[in-house]
Amino acid sequence: MPKKLEHVLSVKQLMDTDLLDELFFAALQYEKDDATRAARVTLSGRVLATMFYEPSTRTRFSFEAAMLRLGGAVLTAENAMENSSAAKGESIADTVRVIGGYADAIVMRHFERGAIQEAASASPVPMINAGDGAGEHPTQALLDVYTIRKELGRLNDLHVAVIGDLKNGRTVHSLLPLLSLYPGLHVTLIAPPSLRLPEEYMEQLRARGVTLEETEDFGGEALRAADVVYMTRVQRERFGSDAEYDAVKAVYVLTEHIADELKPEAIILHALPRLQELPAGVDRNLRAAYFRQAKNGLHMRMALLAYLLS
Ligand code: NCD
Repeated sequence: MPKKLEHVLSVKQLMDTDLLDELFFAALQYEKDDATRAARVTLSGRVLATMFYEPSTRTRFSFEAAMLRLGGAVLTAENAMENSSAAKGESIADTVRVIGGYADAIVMRHFERGAIQEAASASPVPMINAGDGAGEHPTQALLDVYTIRKELGRLNDLHVAVIGDLKNGRTVHSLLPLLSLYPGLHVTLIAPPSLRLPEEYMEQLRARGVTLEETEDFGGEALRAADVVYMTRVQRERFGSDAEYDAVKAVYVLTEHIADELKPEAIILHALPRLQELPAGVDRNLRAAYFRQAKNGLHMRMALLAYLLS
């Protein structure tokens, strides 16, 4: 039995294949049960608080739906900067100290890297990082790895190409280290020079023996050899000016033509929301797995909440 998790702040705490197997198994079970619509009481009487200081659709709704589907209840501040005492200048530590008295766990998203880790040190209940600025997004990584395993049937010996804003894209910062748990990982990083993956993550991956290659070339050999093509949105909200954003926003567009040239068994993933980097026409491509990926978030988060709270 893997050791019990307290907070989920970084994928560093999830680097355990036994723990992941347990969560993946539970998520699959929840997905199967959904078909029967059986009433669940696993977390009946428990309360989850979701506090979002930055916009969210999938992450917040899927956490809340997961809690409700497990028989629990939800308290939410979906615009916490304006609709909580943060607007009066209260520290985030004080806020979670209080909310932790009302709820059994807190899911938080914040625009500042490290803010959730800081809040967690004051929290009396488990906290889950639902995205901290350009830092991490550990539960997205869980559902991404779960999706790859479901779609491809394996996690070993994967060639993964990640494309776009690797500097600010927190999903990639969590996904690549988590995937490096599995042997034979080969990663191709495709980004413009200003949006390269930060050195700290490169080092982490090299230390784990991952084969890493970096290129600006999109549509080349590496892309055609990839098992997983992971597109990312250029993170406009992290740019200093519109001009800087405009210069890079559309450097990589996965056109229908490029998508057709991928390996037949490859899958295309995107954490969503997508902008111009992933045209809607690609949705018809059989390799497009991003809406299934988003759906998997529900069952993965059910598994995680049940694991943390029951
Ligand atoms: C991502 C995020 O918020 O980091 N979205 C998500 O959680 N599904 C990706 C993004 O915003 O580009």
